[in-house]
Amino acid sequence: MQDYLEANKGRFLDELLDLLRIPSVSADSKFKGDVRKAAEFVRESLEKAGADVAEIHETKGHPIVYGEKIVDASKPTVLVYGHYDVQPADPYELWTSPPFEPVIKDEKIYARGSADDKGQFFMHVKAFEAMMATDSLPCNVKFMIEGEEEVGSDNLGTFVAENREKLKADVILISDTAMIANDVPSIDTGLRGLSYVEVEVTGPNRDLHSGVYGGAVANPINALAKMIASLHDENGHITIPNFYDDVIELSAEERAMLEAAPFELEEYKSDLAIEDVQGEAGYTTRERASIRPTLDCNGIWGGYIGEGAKTVLPSKAYAKISMRLVPNQDWNKITELFSKHFLSIAPKSVKVKVTPHHGGQPYLTPLESAAYKAAEAALAESFGKKPVPTRGGGSIPIVALFEKELGLKTVLMGFGLDSDSIHSPNEHYGLFNFYKGIETIPLFFKHFAELSK
Ligand code: BES
Ligand code: MN
Ligand code: MN
Repeated sequence: MQDYLEANKGRFLDELLDLLRIPSVSADSKFKGDVRKAAEFVRESLEKAGADVAEIHETKGHPIVYGEKIVDASKPTVLVYGHYDVQPADPYELWTSPPFEPVIKDEKIYARGSADDKGQFFMHVKAFEAMMATDSLPCNVKFMIEGEEEVGSDNLGTFVAENREKLKADVILISDTAMIANDVPSIDTGLRGLSYVEVEVTGPNRDLHSGVYGGAVANPINALAKMIASLHDENGHITIPNFYDDVIELSAEERAMLEAAPFELEEYKSDLAIEDVQGEAGYTTRERASIRPTLDCNGIWGGYIGEGAKTVLPSKAYAKISMRLVPNQDWNKITELFSKHFLSIAPKSVKVKVTPHHGGQPYLTPLESAAYKAAEAALAESFGKKPVPTRGGGSIPIVALFEKELGLKTVLMGFGLDSDSIHSPNEHYGLFNFYKGIETIPLFFKHFAELSK
């Protein structure tokens, strides 16, 4: 195995770079053809790696790639999930090299999707190829690589519900998260859920002269800013009534376990060029970003934003708001609580509309499962250090759906780093991480096959 990986390293990287050259931005219909091209690339790579089945499934949106290799029906099956779609690369001018022309700099691959998630799911394709080539695939493997993760996986739920038999497996394995550091392996044991809404505030029926009407008529931007600001109190708690009702507080023991993982607050601040952190009182920075629910304004607009000045009292103002949720919170319920509260705090002088966008449920991986133990053993073997359990702050909404529809738990064996700049300009993925992932995945298969006996 080690020899095969060493001998084929260069080609693995070249193939990933080819995949990164395809701008498979799922959010923007301009790239629809490229999204399909990426799907075809993935399908072919699975076929070439040795899959018996490698097919493209059409959906109402972007296609899903499915592949499988059944070595023995009596053996356990690992279902690998990933996404070949990427976030938009905007703003392009902040990239030091073009987002879809990958370059290697300081031992890192710079390109949109390099870490999220092309570089990560492709490790599974290459690990599978290596296991096939060295005749060492110890259990069955299925691949489900989708093209709509970054836009809410709208059509994956239907695919899963319609293909329960096909997707039958013992565990789901995903590399789409981060570890603490290259010398501190870790495994995310949970993901936050998400509720995403858009709000619209309307004042007067048309834009007005801010000198003629200003001061007498509500300005929807002022009103919206005040409403958003009121959603947190002075302790950083969210003020929506009943928002925290379903949150399960962690025990002191669980908090201590998570807090045992290394974290340097000074490094964290200097990396972000901030003088100080902020957040909910009573929780550490890491807890605020993982085990606590949050509310953030993601975008806000209205009025005049062109060059120069225009003295206008705008008719409308808008914002996009996301709430990250923790286990036992339900995103539909939270969306309702938000809507009700947001409408209730609107001054009479404006009209408010709340439109739910999308969401997903939070998720937890049981630490005592064979699959978690297999991941732990695999990382311990390849890094020479036992991985620490962490809780991820991001969301992969489909993971909770897999549990509901397929009754399957997920192991989040991610090899990225928080500093990879995913969703940002200059996204990158370490060569170390790419190769370490390819080396570790076969070890997961080995340990999982053994532990499932
Ligand atoms: N891979 C990320 C999720 C992630 C990132 C989990 C870092 C843990 C650590 C995924 O592609 C993503 O970006 N998810 C979105 C949600 C989706 C509905 C657009 C997110 O978390 O914002
Ligand atoms: Mn991702
Ligand atoms: Mn993402």
